[in-house]
Amino acid sequence: MLDVHVSELVEHHKELMIPYWRVKRRVAEMAREYVVEQSGDGEDALFLTILCGGASFAEMFLTEVAKLGYGEYSSKDNIGLSSYSNGDSSNRQPEIIQPLKNPEAVAGRKVVILEDIKDTGISLEKVISELTKLGATSIEVIALLAKPEAAEVQLSVPSRYGFEIPKEFVVGDGIDWAEKYRVLLGVWRIVKHENGVKGDERNWGQRMWERVNVWVDRHLT
Ligand code: IMP
Ligand code: MG
Repeated sequence: MLDVHVSELVEHHKELMIPYWRVKRRVAEMAREYVVEQSGDGEDALFLTILCGGASFAEMFLTEVAKLGYGEYSSKDNIGLSSYSNGDSSNRQPEIIQPLKNPEAVAGRKVVILEDIKDTGISLEKVISELTKLGATSIEVIALLAKPEAAEVQLSVPSRYGFEIPKEFVVGDGIDWAEKYRVLLGVWRIVKHENGVKGDERNWGQRMWERVNVWVDRHLT
């Protein structure tokens, strides 16, 4: 059953954009690329997750890094940013709503920012400038998704993305719409129903894809 609050959102349905097994496979690949590039370096990076959206991706990514026998001496911290509040478009003035637990640990460190989506890039740039102020020696961005058509600022540090997607609103795998749909496997696009047309919120197409997602994950990956 859907949470009652979902009905407060505009009438919509979801279409699968990236199945969970592809997300998982790509994240494993990103972790391999990351680890290969670190060879010779110390393992003392600080992984900084942008909450809440980045949390699922960060968990998946760092698990894959650990499976490769890497990262044991690195540390983790989080930063909480508000950008979309409850809507579905960036308000362009993200605020830090949860500061780092150990801001003093940033000075002299290599920091890897883990994020769900680069949209306009304003949120990431905000975090980058915060880390620069705190004295990070190097900063890089690893995000699951990027919407190149939505980019408004050029990031000032190296970045890599799992998937480039069109400028559409997506949910799932940690990504929300007004706090809903974070706990949904795979990345789904939101299709809004115009003119009050009502649709089956969680239609048979979605249910079928959810099952396929889980089956492929269990049997083929
Ligand atoms: P930016 O500052 O415009 O790059 O926005 C980045 C933040 O907005 C991300 O951390 C996400 O939390 C949120 N965001 C961007 N696109 C989407 C989306 O399609 N669905 C849900 N949240 C999004
Ligand atoms: Mg976010």
